[in-house]
Parts: sequence; structure tokens; C-alpha cells
Amino acid sequence: MNTITKHTQIENILNELFDDAKGDHIKMIKGIAKSVFRPLQPTDFKDVYLSISQEQGVELRQLITENGFKNIVEFGTSFGISTLYLAQGVIETEGNIITTELVPSKAKRATENFAKAGVSELIDLRIGDALETLKNYSEPTDLLVLDGWKDLYLPLFNMLEHTFHNKTIVYVDNADMNDTQVFLKTVAQTAKYDLRTSHNGKVVLIRKK
Ligand SMILES: C[S@@+](CC[C@H](N)C(=O)[O-])C[C@H]1O[C@@H](n2cnc3c(N)ncnc32)[C@H](O)[C@@H]1O
Repeated sequence: MNTITKHTQIENILNELFDDAKGDHIKMIKGIAKSVFRPLQPTDFKDVYLSISQEQGVELRQLITENGFKNIVEFGTSFGISTLYLAQGVIETEGNIITTELVPSKAKRATENFAKAGVSELIDLRIGDALETLKNYSEPTDLLVLDGWKDLYLPLFNMLEHTFHNKTIVYVDNADMNDTQVFLKTVAQTAKYDLRTSHNGKVVLIRKK
């Protein structure tokens, strides 16, 4: 299959998934309603995409191709929308992706979506808690995408920091949420990194100074 056909196949699956994700709002409310009696849990959102936007996806793909990134690590797969954009990038750079999802039913759906899009061989989907599934990761990280539960951003960043190099980019989604703000302040205080905000505050890119 040539590269154009591969991209078309991925685009088709992405369109289907974004269409299906239109039902997210109602499902989100149902999930949030469960937190009246206890703290929110990832399984409360087992049917919800919670995905990045199309614009963010295109940006992620461009970050990979423009920088020639090969080693991509993602925290928070959900049904695989963001991962499919990452796959579009690594098709061009001959790279690969490690992504991780806590909720097994979501990981199963993502696996099916990767197969339908014809990109399974590019993606190592690790099922479980990211702090466990990425514990032994030691390759140089070119791009780290943080899009899981926000209280894990700092421990994951600290755990993977030894794999960062001078050109590594950490893509932080939901940067405007309270827990993420605490994480970003901590990173900024180290004075080792530049932080650039985009998408009206929703995204921050972290680069080494
Ligand atoms: C915002 S969604 C990810 C959306 C996805 N990146 C996309 O754009 O399609 C966050 C995901 O992180 C998962 N998650 C939460 N805690 C996790 C953990 N400790 N380890 C791995 N995944 C986790 C949730 O189950 C949820 O599916």
C-alpha cells in the first residue's frame, strides 16, 4: 500500500471516530454525575473519547514530520484518535509509537481502530497504569504526549525525563486544568525548560532551553 492510500485509510477512520465522538457530551455528564458520591475514576469515562481536536491532531503530525521525530510516547490512548494522528507522522519518519491506556475496554477499541486504519505495526499499545507500563522505557524520547489523568503528568515527566534530549518536545494537553497548572509551574520553576502556550491555553509545548 502506498503512503497516500495509507493516509486516506487513516483519515477515513478518523472521520468515523470524530463522528462517533459527537455523543461525548451526554456521556460525559453521566460520568461526572457518578462523582457526586466519590472522586472521579477513569472507568467513569469508559465510553467517552475525550479526544484532542482535529487541529491538535494535525499539529502533532506536523511536529513529528517537521522535526523528523521517530520515538513517540503517549500517555492516554482512549479510543486512539490522537494516536492515529501520531501514526500519520511516523509513517513519514519511519518511527513508532508507544501509547498506554488504563481502561481495558478502551484499549480494545483502540486496537481495533489501529487495525482498521492499517497502522497496528507502528503502535505498541500498553494496557495498564502508565506509571507501570512506561516504567522500563529507556529509549530517547522525541515527542511525549501527555493526555491522560492530570495528576500523573508530573510523576510521568519525572520518570521519563532521563530519556529526553535537546530536541525533545513534551506536548501537554488540557494545560488549563488546575492539576496541569500545578505541573507546569513545577516544570517552569526548574528553569531548564521553555514553555509555549497555544490553542487558547489548552496546550503547552515544553522544550529544553
Ligand atoms: C483525555 S483521554 C485521552 C484521549 C486521547 N489522547 C485522544 O486524543 O483520543 C485520557 C485517557 O487516559 C486514560 N488514563 C487515565 N489514567 C491513566 C493511567 N494511570 N494510565 C494510563 N491511562 C490512563 C483514561 O482512561 C482516558 O482514556
